[in-house]
Amino acid sequence: MQDEDGYVILNIKTRKPARTSVDLATPSLWRVMALILLILCMGMVVGLVTLGITSVKQQNYLRAENKNLSGTLQQLAKRFCQYLLKSLEKGHNLGHKCSPCDINWRYYGEGCYGFFRHNLTWEESKQYCTGMNATLVKITNQNILEYIKNRISSMRWVGLSRQNSNKVWLWEDGSVPSKNVFKHPGNESENMNCAYFHNGKIHPTLCKNKHYLMCERKAGMTKMDELP
Ligand SMILES: *[C@@H]1O[C@H](CO)[C@@H](O)[C@H](O)[C@H]1NC(C)=O
Ligand SMILES: *[C@@H]1O[C@H](CO)[C@@H](O)[C@H](O)[C@H]1NC(C)=O
Ligand SMILES: *[C@@H]1O[C@H](CO)[C@@H](O)[C@H](O)[C@H]1NC(C)=O
Ligand SMILES: *[C@@H]1O[C@H](CO)[C@@H](O)[C@H](O)[C@H]1NC(C)=O
Repeated sequence: MQDEDGYVILNIKTRKPARTSVDLATPSLWRVMALILLILCMGMVVGLVTLGITSVKQQNYLRAENKNLSGTLQQLAKRFCQYLLKSLEKGHNLGHKCSPCDINWRYYGEGCYGFFRHNLTWEESKQYCTGMNATLVKITNQNILEYIKNRISSMRWVGLSRQNSNKVWLWEDGSVPSKNVFKHPGNESENMNCAYFHNGKIHPTLCKNKHYLMCERKAGMTKMDELP
């Protein structure tokens, strides 16, 4: 070892006079600079690759998040609108921009309700609703019954009739009316096969009689871009 060390020192010493101090410094300076550049380059490559991976991940995440966010916003808007409409209940059309229902239709629960002052027979009323992409109102629970009762005081055709061979009262979709919601119309008269709603009760009457009507259809999505 000593021999080698001695040789190295000797060797440098013997070479030293042959070069200027700049000459000696240059190669090691280059080497250091090259090393630094190499490290920088590698660092940049690693950085770029990392950045690329994270940005792809980020994009996917953002895309998923975005979907989620619009769903959440939709829900929020719906709830906000329901709240707003409730507070504007007596303010008539003030809230219609918020409503997933068309103008002149009322938003309640999951449905849109249209109360029309056309004096028509039951069959004509049914046709009228069909023309509006709707059906005659079906009262399926106490909430809807209360809602309509509080809103409307005149007699209104509903989608209940017994024009089938079994003479049983059925909604337009063929379902049996719930006994919990209202007393079933009796069978007082053979000819009274259609029902209207008045003051929270269902009354059987002649289908050819004329009454006002009410239609319903499913509420659409709240139109967010139309919100003020
Ligand atoms: C959407 O958000 C809910 C919480 O609001 C969360 O539980 C669910 O995992 C999220 N879905 C996605 C796809 O990010
Ligand atoms: C509907 O028409 C009938 C017969 O034309 C009439 O007796 C009745 O008063 C009318 N009802 C309303 C609410 O206008
Ligand atoms: C009924 O629905 C059809 C097709 O979706 C539509 O073209 C029409 O305008 C709707 N009518 C009403 C009164 O909403
Ligand atoms: C309807 O009336 C008939 C008699 O006319 C009676 O036998 C039947 O039980 C009644 N049905 C109901 C549901 O009240």
